[in-house]
Amino acid sequence: MTSKNNIIFCKDFVSDVNAQIQGVSLEQLFILTDTGSKKHCYSALMQVSALKNAHLIEIPAGDDSKNINTVVSVWQFLCEHGGTRKSMLINLGGGMITDLGGFAANIFKRGIKFINIPTTLLGMVDAAVGGKTGINFNGLKNEIGVIHSASCVLINPSFLQSLDKNNVLSGYAEMLKHGLLSNYKDLQALLNFDINEPDFNKLGEMVRISIEVKEHIVEIDPGEKGLRKALNLGHTIGHAFESYSHTQARPMLHGHAIALGLIAELYLSYKFKGFPQDKMMQVVTFIKENYTAFDITCKDYDTLYALMQHDKKNSDISHVNFTLLSEVGNIHPDCIVEKEDIFNSLDFYRDIMGI
Ligand SMILES: NC(=O)c1ccc[n+]([C@@H]2O[C@H](COP(=O)([O-])OP(=O)(O)OC[C@H]3O[C@@H](n4cnc5c(N)ncnc54)[C@H](O)[C@@H]3O)[C@@H](O)[C@H]2O)c1
Ligand SMILES: [Zn+2]
Repeated sequence: MTSKNNIIFCKDFVSDVNAQIQGVSLEQLFILTDTGSKKHCYSALMQVSALKNAHLIEIPAGDDSKNINTVVSVWQFLCEHGGTRKSMLINLGGGMITDLGGFAANIFKRGIKFINIPTTLLGMVDAAVGGKTGINFNGLKNEIGVIHSASCVLINPSFLQSLDKNNVLSGYAEMLKHGLLSNYKDLQALLNFDINEPDFNKLGEMVRISIEVKEHIVEIDPGEKGLRKALNLGHTIGHAFESYSHTQARPMLHGHAIALGLIAELYLSYKFKGFPQDKMMQVVTFIKENYTAFDITCKDYDTLYALMQHDKKNSDISHVNFTLLSEVGNIHPDCIVEKEDIFNSLDFYRDIMGI
């Protein structure tokens, strides 16, 4: 099945990949992957006989690789192995690979074709779709990049079977966010799903629904001028937790920080936009049961607030901006919330998590 934006939900992975590389001469096919994705997913790609002799570029796993030096090494490899404007880069991996590979491809020779084959849950429902590509720079995440979509994104949920629980939970937080942005029925399906013993067929179907939510939003507002800000739900406070966790040498995976950010931001939605209390409690209970608390006390609030003020999505540091909800699917971007109320939401988060 193919969506409008060329997102393909694979029925037969080998023939679906084959269809996408038609017309590209064999010596112009390049595969970019990292050590972890290669270990678990490369053999499936090698079932595509036309890719057996494709040039393989392997980089170390982890976000530390998402930097300009790695991009230069990818460009170097392309130059040394006869890359031309007709080359195609196949990005096989999680968000680190699709972000970096998309960026490298978009710049090389002023843009070559690339396809994304996300292998993590976060990659499938978020990073590989929507066209944002980039790298970390100068100590800042995603500081350099371009928005330009892959020629296609191939979704093969069977890759999720080898993913560790923390990475499953990380992607699942973005799915919860998409559920909150769409409708109560889809949200309930997510809350009732057994994430500890996942039924991968069901999860694949929920991935498809989740991607449609992001696609719909990005289609209306590709440049993040209005509705795309909805995708920041949970991220204003979540990013502050994430950044703080890194400065304290107790790093959290992105989605774990977002899940905790959702608790605080649903509280703000309830308080200021009348989001129904029972639905808020259903979501925060699910998060409490499945995610680990990030330990903070009220002494940390000022630092967290400063991080929110300086978040790059916040254009004016005198205010902190939120996307809030008045109901599941009723989205209010650009809500300014005062410091004291943000602190109250952090109190709520600590009460819920029992810290
Ligand atoms: N472009 C966007 O819109 C967007 C959105 C969200 C996140 N991101 C970016 O995505 C990145 C995070 O992505 P991620 O969470 O996928 O992390 P990741 O790409 O670092 O992958 C996480 C780990 O899983 C391993 N792995 C990959 N596939 C596997 C599989 N099938 N089985 C077992 N292990 C596997 C990887 O080797 C890695 O060690 C960040 O750099 C973030 O900035 C981008
Ligand atoms: Zn996110």
